[in-house]
This record gives sequence, C-alpha cells and structure tokens, in this order.
Amino acid sequence: MPSPFPFPILETERLILREWQDEDVNALFKLFGSEEVVRYTPVVCHTDPEQSMQTMRRFRARFHEKHEGIVWAVERKDTREVIGEAGIYEWSPQHFRLAIGYSLIPDHWGHGFATEMAREVVRYAFEDFPLFTVNRVEAQTDPVNQPSIHVLEKLGFTKEAYIRQGEFEKGRFVDLVLFSMLRAER
Ligand SMILES: CC(C)(COP(=O)(O)OP(=O)(O)OC[C@H]1O[C@@H](n2cnc3c(N)ncnc32)[C@H](O)[C@@H]1OP(=O)(O)O)[C@@H](O)C(=O)NCCC(=O)NCCS
Repeated sequence: MPSPFPFPILETERLILREWQDEDVNALFKLFGSEEVVRYTPVVCHTDPEQSMQTMRRFRARFHEKHEGIVWAVERKDTREVIGEAGIYEWSPQHFRLAIGYSLIPDHWGHGFATEMAREVVRYAFEDFPLFTVNRVEAQTDPVNQPSIHVLEKLGFTKEAYIRQGEFEKGRFVDLVLFSMLRAER
C-alpha cells in the first residue's frame, strides 16, 4: 500500500529537507561512517558505502511501505551538499505523539544547522503532520551528548526523565534522557 501522503519537502532559510536519493549515498556514508556521529546513537559505524545504501533503502521503506516514519536528507541551499539527516523516527496515532531526531556530518557542526532543521521538523509535526493532530513531540538522547541536549533546550523542550539503562546499544546498556514538547507549550 502506498504511503497515505506524499513525502513532505520542507524548507528553512538555509536548508532543504527532502527525500534520500541513491546519489546521496556518499553523504550518508560520511555521516554514519563517522565514529563521532554514531557514538551516542544505536547506529553501528558504517565501514562500507553498501551499508549506507541499505540504510537509505530502510529509510525509504519506513515511509513508503511500512508508514512508520520520515527520514529527511538535509541539503544546504548554498552548496547543494547533503549535510545530515533529520527524522520523525516513529509515531503513535493512538497517543497523538511522535519522536524526532537528527545528526550532521561533523564538518557542518557549529553553524546552527541542527537547530534550524530540528525546529522545522517540530513545526511540521505540530502544524502540518497529516495523520493526526500531534500533542506531544519527544526526543531522547544520551545524557553525555551535550550538543544534542543543547539543541533540544534551544528549541524549548523540557527535560522530563532520566532513564537508567534504557537501551542496549552496541553491546552495552546506555542511559537516556527524555525530552518533550507539548502542543500547549509551543
Ligand atoms: C547533535 C548535533 C546535530 C548538534 O550539531 P551542532 O552543530 O552542535 O548544533 P547547532 O546547529 O545548534 O549549532 C551549534 C552552534 O552553531 C553556532 N552557530 C553558528 N552560526 C549560527 C547560526 N547562523 N545560527 C545559530 N547558531 C549558529 C552557534 O554557536 C551554536 O551554538 P550556541 O547555540 O551554543 O551558540 C551534532 O553534534 C551531531 O550530529 N552529533 C552526532 C549525532 C547525534 O548525537 N545526534 C543526536 C542523537 S539524539
């Protein structure tokens, strides 16, 4: 069954968020082939672009076939480079909530791009998400992932829980902090 809505294309002042294309494989490899990027995430560092191609296919299947999430390729308008990913990784119509995330190729850290793209994903979630009226946007991060926590705080998310050994990632249990924003708090 095709997705109930077309893949959304989002735009900010400096960025375009659009669907991943095969020719973006090198950018995805640069992203998930970076130990610095995957350190605080469940992603196992890619060592071969073929792994990145498979990941890209999984991104597309999550949207087009499974209808479980949206992962955008984030492109800089000035250079047309793909610099990272942003996503609505899962949603729950029953509870009117969804979960977001993001990562950037390290060359593009420190320019405010993460905040810019995450802010747009949150806006889309509350204003334009077509499946249900979103009441709660969640994000979780490793408690020592200060850059990510900083992004969420800049967006106005509330830190609401510390989850001990909340996930088993790459052979070890990791703690998580859970952040959220409610529709009423926007
Ligand atoms: C998390 C991550 C995306 C954050 O990236 P980032 O570049 O540090 O985040 P930002 O986009 O907010 O940019 C930060 C800095 O850019 C600087 N900056 C430069 N130009 C700017 C502009 N035009 N607008 C805003 N900030 C700008 C600011 O100094 C800002 O820091 P400040 O808010 O303390 O002043 C990045 O560290 C990453 O990819 N990590 C690995 C993956 C990961 O952990 N993802 C999250 C999993 S939960």
